[in-house]
Amino acid sequence: SPRAIIAPSILASDFGNLSHECSRIVNEAGADWLHVDIMDGHFVPNITIGAPVVTCIRGSVDRAEDWSKGVFDCHMMVAEPQKWLDDFKKAGCDLYCFHYEAAEASQAPHTPSSELIKLIHSKGMKAGVGIKPDTPADVLFPLLDGMLLVMTVEPGFGGQKFQERCMPKVKELRERYPDMDIEVDGGLGLGTIDVAAEAGANVIVAGTAVFGAKDPKDVIAKLREAVES
Ligand code: DX5
Ligand code: ZN
Repeated sequence: SPRAIIAPSILASDFGNLSHECSRIVNEAGADWLHVDIMDGHFVPNITIGAPVVTCIRGSVDRAEDWSKGVFDCHMMVAEPQKWLDDFKKAGCDLYCFHYEAAEASQAPHTPSSELIKLIHSKGMKAGVGIKPDTPADVLFPLLDGMLLVMTVEPGFGGQKFQERCMPKVKELRERYPDMDIEVDGGLGLGTIDVAAEAGANVIVAGTAVFGAKDPKDVIAKLREAVES
């Protein structure tokens, strides 16, 4: 598998001190990426933040020269992912990860996944495609280019229980794509990392487990160790 990437989710941070929280987790505790959960109250039953807030926190996080540290991994839990490309590019988003279910939903105006990926690239961002726990992995087969996100909880809220039933999908994708970044998101922490790593996930989102820890640096190091061992 590719290298371990630890991406704490700021959903579990103190939103009243967002800049400080982001800088402490990337610049001090050694996180690789920052996982930024964007929810619009339509695709999921919750609302978080939009591009203006992302713009404000971008400056507090050091950016590495290479594609490694300080990456803003924006998880777009929104009904119309095609709508926000320019805003998020401008805000400093590096990786724009949309949901397959939103891109393919026929009831709203939509841009199909393959087209959306091309658009994301044309704006100079990396693309990611996510699936919810009940969506099969094979929908991702034709969408080779970018990161694959396998949700391990129903998207919408932090602090939920990790769903191990999603691991066969991670295995299936890892077998097929040995070099691809495969991200897992939801309920990851020291108690669940081993199963996820064993299945082949290398990009680990962890909200509660990192931001709720006394020593986030230690948790990040342990998560990394579990993926790399
Ligand atoms: C859920 C979000 C997750 C969430 C993870 O909809 O996509 O990124 O914040 O939080 P924990 O790690 O607490 O489950
Ligand atoms: Zn997320």
